Amino acid sequence: RGLFTYDPGFVSTAACESSITYIDGDQGILLHRGYPIEQLAKHSDYLETCYLLLNGELPTAEQKEQFVNTIKNHTMVHQQMTHFFNGFRRDAHPMAIMVAVVGALSAFYHDSLDIDDPHHREVCAYRLIAKMPTIAAMCYKYSIGQPFQYPQNDLNYADNFLHMMFGTPCATYVPNPILSKAMDRIFLLHADHEQNASTSTVRLAGSSGANPFACIASGVAALWGPAHGGANEAVLQMLEEIGDEANIPEFIQRAKDPDDDFRLMGFGHRVYRNFDPRAKVMKQACDEVLAELGIENDPLLKIAKRLEQIALEDEYFVQRKLYPNVDFYSGIILKAIGIPTNMFTVIFALSRTIGWISHWSEFHSSPNKIGRPRQLYTGQKQRDYPE
Ligand code: CMC
Repeated sequence: RGLFTYDPGFVSTAACESSITYIDGDQGILLHRGYPIEQLAKHSDYLETCYLLLNGELPTAEQKEQFVNTIKNHTMVHQQMTHFFNGFRRDAHPMAIMVAVVGALSAFYHDSLDIDDPHHREVCAYRLIAKMPTIAAMCYKYSIGQPFQYPQNDLNYADNFLHMMFGTPCATYVPNPILSKAMDRIFLLHADHEQNASTSTVRLAGSSGANPFACIASGVAALWGPAHGGANEAVLQMLEEIGDEANIPEFIQRAKDPDDDFRLMGFGHRVYRNFDPRAKVMKQACDEVLAELGIENDPLLKIAKRLEQIALEDEYFVQRKLYPNVDFYSGIILKAIGIPTNMFTVIFALSRTIGWISHWSEFHSSPNKIGRPRQLYTGQKQRDYPE
């Protein structure tokens, strides 16, 4: 078929070299800078993993303290940014607001920005890691009509986010170590996943030399879809639609029917043809959180567990190697923490920001080329305009 390799969905095309994340989909292995995700989830925390992704090595105690303090210095957003929110209907989907407000950061950091300067790239990363939770929580507060909460820098990263989500001027958010750990694990498990749709989008947008905050906004947009980051929201919607364990067989049947568009949300993965290693950690975290909160008998959770069991034994799913992915369990944990469903993908976006900016930075730190895929033209041959 012509001069080009035709590879729809890029199933067998490597678009770049990268030393950040390694995935072996057949073995179910995920490494960040060489470290297995299971070990990072056990021994590290989100900000340390951000440092690792960005710099290639784990920080010393001193480097970590410095990094955490630097992030804390950047948590506020410019006061003018609050005006952007007022342009949205209050029932706007928080991801719609995220795309716009994150893109608007580019207007605040553009003129003096030199993307060829490693220090400038580093500061962009600090700003994004620090400000994403603030913007994400503002999206939620705006949607429920409560005043924005300023970041509180004496709290850790996860607690500060939960404070901005759930604190009010009338009632201070009281950190809960269980929720704090669960939130941090969710951030960490979503931090990077090599060349997925949103990261590839950020790299491609970045390849033109565009403003990094605008590039990150393009990543937020790509993440939104239900086949990618929107799946965690779709999982909960699906569980609610199933409504009762007795209805599971009907939905399984629909997922198998080639004439029905319905898919089991939170199942399957382009790269993993084995259990998603993040899902294993997430499943364990999910069990712990629900047990510690004493809500193991949550009806949606029961449906989720039964659905997982039935699907894992069903020939259709076994043959196609369709296992639960990270989004299957993260939605249940987020629900238990009290996060509203329409904020799930926003939380994925804030967690993945470190992956996006690390890839953007990696792209700009070595000789590079603008991304310019070709196509197989299937349209009309040249013809004359009717006179
Ligand atoms: N339910 C039912 N059937 C499925 C599912 C599913 N969730 N996923 C794939 N299949 C079937 C599909 O119909 C096809 O069957 P057949 O060979 O008979 O035509 C076969 O499995 C291969 O599917 P595919 O669409 O070619 O696989 P893909 O690699 O293009 O798609 C996917 C991967 C993740 C988009 C897909 O599995 C899916 O839509 N899953 C549900 C959405 C989801 O959970 N997405 C989150 C992904 S993990 C987090 C992230 O990366 O953002």
